[in-house]
Amino acid sequence: MIIAIDGPAAAGKGTLARRLADYFNYAYLDTGGLYRAVGLSMLRADVSPEDEVAASKASLSLNSALFTDTALRDEATGTAASKVAAMPQVRANLLEFQRKFSQLPPDGKRGAVLDGRDIGTVVCPNADIKFFVTANPQERARRRYTEITARGETADYNEILADVQARDARDMGRKDAPLVAAADAHLLDTTELDIDAVFLRAVALIEEKQKPQ
Ligand code: CDP
Repeated sequence: MIIAIDGPAAAGKGTLARRLADYFNYAYLDTGGLYRAVGLSMLRADVSPEDEVAASKASLSLNSALFTDTALRDEATGTAASKVAAMPQVRANLLEFQRKFSQLPPDGKRGAVLDGRDIGTVVCPNADIKFFVTANPQERARRRYTEITARGETADYNEILADVQARDARDMGRKDAPLVAAADAHLLDTTELDIDAVFLRAVALIEEKQKPQ
């Protein structure tokens, strides 16, 4: 069983994906983490995230320490991630790993949940079920703001909103694997639905799909 979840920054994909993976005991892959790791390795090496040759090289040899680095979730890392994610070579280098994970989930799990921007369209076009999770930019910026300040860090709402909008524009506007809902994806607008309601709706749709036809 492959569950594909796509959507823009801070729409609640990660939370939904993690809860579904827990509930069904499936493996979970945060594909944004891969692009973030490439972006972070560029920042750590003091190389511009616009440098395509360096980004491609970084995407072929990701150090596992990057995935536990506390800076992985920083806004600056997210911005660098969306820059390297627009490079076709970087996307190609990361594709195989994501496909393998979906087809042969680790630990003998019977299913996989992947979240990102192009899971339903490019990575797993034959996923058993697809969700496109979204919310308006103001609500997404508000959530990101709450997340950051809850960690005890300072944040500026207007800066976050501008960052969310810039990232949306970059993710939707790129030529290679742009952020778009797959034609057969279930749309989940979380602007006015809390995470429990979204989770229950997704579980109902998945269980419907799992019923013997
Ligand atoms: O957590 P958040 O929604 O802010 O972002 P993320 O899922 O961690 O992804 C960071 C960046 O990686 C995104 O802005 C995309 O540009 C890129 N990405 C992508 O291009 N394709 C994916 N499957 C996942 C992420």
